[in-house]
This record gives sequence, C-alpha cells and structure tokens, in this order.
Amino acid sequence: MTSQDEKKRNVAEAAVAFVDESMILGVGTGSTVNFFLAALNAHKIRPLGAVSSSSASSALLREARIEEIDLNSAGDLEVYIDGADEATRSGALIKGGGGALTREKIVAAASKRFICMVDDSKIVRTLGRFPLPIEVIPMARSYVARKLVALGGQPVWREDMITDNGNQILDVHNLAIVDPVTLESTIGAIAGVVSVGLFARRGADVLLVGSASGVETIRL
Ligand code: 5RP
Repeated sequence: MTSQDEKKRNVAEAAVAFVDESMILGVGTGSTVNFFLAALNAHKIRPLGAVSSSSASSALLREARIEEIDLNSAGDLEVYIDGADEATRSGALIKGGGGALTREKIVAAASKRFICMVDDSKIVRTLGRFPLPIEVIPMARSYVARKLVALGGQPVWREDMITDNGNQILDVHNLAIVDPVTLESTIGAIAGVVSVGLFARRGADVLLVGSASGVETIRL
C-alpha cells in the first residue's frame, strides 16, 4: 500500500465515528470511499441504508450488504461521506475526478453534514492545480469549451468517459480559482453545463486530513 493509500485508509477510519446504525447515510465515490466502506464493515457497523452517488458505489454497497435507498424516498440525510480531489482548509473542494460529480453534488446538498476525507497532498491554498471537472450535455460540449476558454481555462474532453447520467466531462486546466463561490455560479450558468466540480457554495462541514502524523479534524 502506498503512503497516500495509508493516509486515505486512516481518514476513512476516522470518518466511521460520524456514522451510526440509525442513519441513512449519503455515500460518495472513489478510493477513499472504498476504504471507508471497508472500515464500516470491519467495525460491523451497518447503517439503516445508504443513498449512493454512483453506479460504482452502488455495487460496493451491495457487496457490503447495505441497502441502497432512493434519495426521493430518503428525505434529508444526516451525513454525507465522500473524498475530494482538492480542498482548501476552509472547506471549498474540487470533486469529479471519478466523474460522479453531479450525483455527489445532489447527495451533498441533501445532507445536513458533509464529512470530507482527504490526504494532505490534496490541501491547497488556491483551488485549480487539479483540473476542474465539468459535466456537460454532449451536444453542448464544444460550446461550453469555448466559454471556458473565454474564462481563462484550457478544457480537455475526457474522451473515455460517459457519466452515469449519459453525459460527457470536460477537465479544465490552468484555472486559478481565487473566488470559488463566484466561479461555481458563473460556470453553472453556462447553457449545457450539468454540474461544476467546484463544491464551494456547499463545501465540507468537516474536513478530515490524513498526514504522516495522523488525522486532523477541521470543523467548519
Ligand atoms: C469522484 C470524486 C472523488 O471523491 C475524488 O475523485 C477523490 O477520489 P479518491 O478518493 O479516489 O482519491 O470526486 O467523482
């Protein structure tokens, strides 16, 4: 296991403390979430059910024998647990490296608390080193890309990916995201954009940061 995986495993272990068996849990997507589901299993904690953010996480929930619940019948959730690709210490995030940003954003929005698990290599002062994922309606891809160039970014089509919603992803390089809340709204308003991988208007409520010296808990 790499040292980054070790840190992911440690933050995933720390996230278990935010879960109890009376909850319907929101579950994100990615390798840190995989560690989290393994940790839940190791602690023999089986929540009442879970709302999934992707077909990949739905498969993991089936394996863990945790019932998947449709968000439409779950109501608001107590807790959403997910990773991120980049985070500031004030809880603004870039997500979508795994392409699940739209459903992740919906489940995060419907949750009272968003517990975000990252290793310290993902903490930045200014978001944008990690290319910003944007989910677009396929026919709008080139149009949206031109608008993103006008905003100063370099969009690259993630050609090998169709999202769970049947859409495409543009990864935008070289954006220095000094005002993530405003940029989230600006890009979200472009016709054809389904979601922006900026989670700033609704960022993390608790950031668990794994480092060589342990896990830091930042409550926001
Ligand atoms: C998926 C995501 C993931 O949270 C993000 O890519 C982090 O993944 P990992 O835990 O594998 O590092 O946003 O859309």
